[in-house]
Amino acid sequence: AVGVSLRTISTMENDKEIIGSQKQQIANLFEESLRAAFPDITDVQPLVAICNDPKHGDYQCNNAMSLWNKIKGKGTQFKGPQPVGKAIIENLPASEMIENCSIAGPGFVNIVLARQWIAKSLQKMLIDGIETWAPKLPVKRTVVDFSSPNIAKEMHVGHLRSTIIGDTLARMLEFSNVDVLRRNHVGDWGTQFGMLIEFLYEKFPNWEAGSAPAIGDLEVFYKASKQRFDNDAEFKERAQKAVVSLQGGDEKYRMAWAQICEISRKEFQKVYERLGVHLEEKGESFYNPYIPKALEMLNEKGLIEESEGARVIFIEGKKIPLIVVKRDGGFNYASTDLTALWYRLNEEKADWMIYVTDVGQREHFEMVFSAAKRAGWLPPNENDYPKASHVGFGLVLGEDGKRFRTRSTEVVKLVDLLDDAKKRCKAALEERGKTKDWTAEELEQTAEAVGYGAVKYADLKNNRLTNYTFNFDQMLSDKGNTAVYLLYAHARICSIIRKSGKDIEELKKSAAIDLAHPDERMLGLHLLQFAEIVEDACTNLSPHLVCEYLYNISEDFTKFYTNCQVVGSAEETSRLLLCEATAVVMRKCFHLLGITPVYKI
Ligand code: ARG
Repeated sequence: AVGVSLRTISTMENDKEIIGSQKQQIANLFEESLRAAFPDITDVQPLVAICNDPKHGDYQCNNAMSLWNKIKGKGTQFKGPQPVGKAIIENLPASEMIENCSIAGPGFVNIVLARQWIAKSLQKMLIDGIETWAPKLPVKRTVVDFSSPNIAKEMHVGHLRSTIIGDTLARMLEFSNVDVLRRNHVGDWGTQFGMLIEFLYEKFPNWEAGSAPAIGDLEVFYKASKQRFDNDAEFKERAQKAVVSLQGGDEKYRMAWAQICEISRKEFQKVYERLGVHLEEKGESFYNPYIPKALEMLNEKGLIEESEGARVIFIEGKKIPLIVVKRDGGFNYASTDLTALWYRLNEEKADWMIYVTDVGQREHFEMVFSAAKRAGWLPPNENDYPKASHVGFGLVLGEDGKRFRTRSTEVVKLVDLLDDAKKRCKAALEERGKTKDWTAEELEQTAEAVGYGAVKYADLKNNRLTNYTFNFDQMLSDKGNTAVYLLYAHARICSIIRKSGKDIEELKKSAAIDLAHPDERMLGLHLLQFAEIVEDACTNLSPHLVCEYLYNISEDFTKFYTNCQVVGSAEETSRLLLCEATAVVMRKCFHLLGITPVYKI
């Protein structure tokens, strides 16, 4: 169900009106009716939802009961919720959108949309572009904090999930005309840098005088320095001193730190390039200069207390307080996140801050957000803006049900994983035997699109909170709910249009869509639900809703294509346009999921 009042922003793009969701348009009609039929009741918003059972209608509006509860016993002329529902229908403004309404149960209004209106809307979208179907969201600027690996440490599968989920959320919000700040909150600060720098100096004395040292695999380097740290008291002491020097701004140590970060950054960048993801790095160190000021503000509000030598914030309902200054006087993960939140709100003027990490960090974010509420930085009600949301996700499991690892028991290297997916896809494509007349480049690009798409889709199709098992055979199968199946389905639709020999751009202007067959109407109706699905996926931060929708659309298409002849039929032009509308919607879904569509298979 959707409330009307939140979304009154009207947006224009290239002079073409953004229509928003169909559900919203229906809700607007019912809003008018409610105001006309019950002028005294101003606090009931139309609750419009997709009909549970398509036999009864396309949508339903469930307001009669709550209205009835407000007026009964107060001398009303109405005799129950059913007549209330009837009055709602009678007061609906005339609209070409609705074919008819009927009453069911305790005053539910079932709504059947007009076939001609569905057809007209599809046609308008084909001409004006699917951007006119962007949802209207009540936010202007969001920060999406995602990926965020740690310097010198492994970028593991958890970071892959964060990267994929965060990128999709950013894409969905960008499509909805929200200004998105894509932030990489890299872990580039902390005590580990002391031992890394000391180790660097030990192995490469005076490195800063010559050219940059070949640290090689930073992870191996990290492990070696850790070992030294754990087993050598003298080294440990030096490492601790190095932390103090670094934090004190010592030029030499700063340079070493920057050097180490740069090596990691190059590695991260390789993964982002493969995945087609871009983000802007504002790592933990970025917020350092702002921490004292942020903590001072919290202190002035009386939030910070002394506890066992540390400075902490107590949070209602939590046993352990949030430590903001450690016993040794240093700052930590929480001090940085509180400061980053302040910065995003006040310097960057974001009204929605979204954090994508594994569910293990839920508690941390709950505490940071609670502290921000206590400070008055965020409103007390979580549905009000500005708002902060933690987008948690589950683990990636291996076949053995344990955390996903390669045989060498090392955490899986992301780049290898993507290479592997691509290689397998290439082999599968060649095996199909249809690629003989393809150029090498075509084969390469298709293998990449399908391989990387498969990895992304296998992740995104699950409710993000559940753990999922990483299985190449499953995700690369061309049957079932996989990217491979969906990409092939899209390519097949494109080939139907190609083979018809018709100029689709010409048809968009000259031919009309008709949806006489029930399978045509069903497909058309579902295509029109695109905006509300994307809206739900944004509002609930749930990309799997888009995957579910994409899969359902392809099923609807199969049904239509099985039962309705396209090329050579009397309805050919209309049906080709319906094919085109399906391909356009599927393509936009792929785009939102960060998957590159293929046109030929
Ligand atoms: N670097 C952290 C990790 O690898 C994730 C950071 C998430 N973002 C944040 N603002 N805390 O677990």
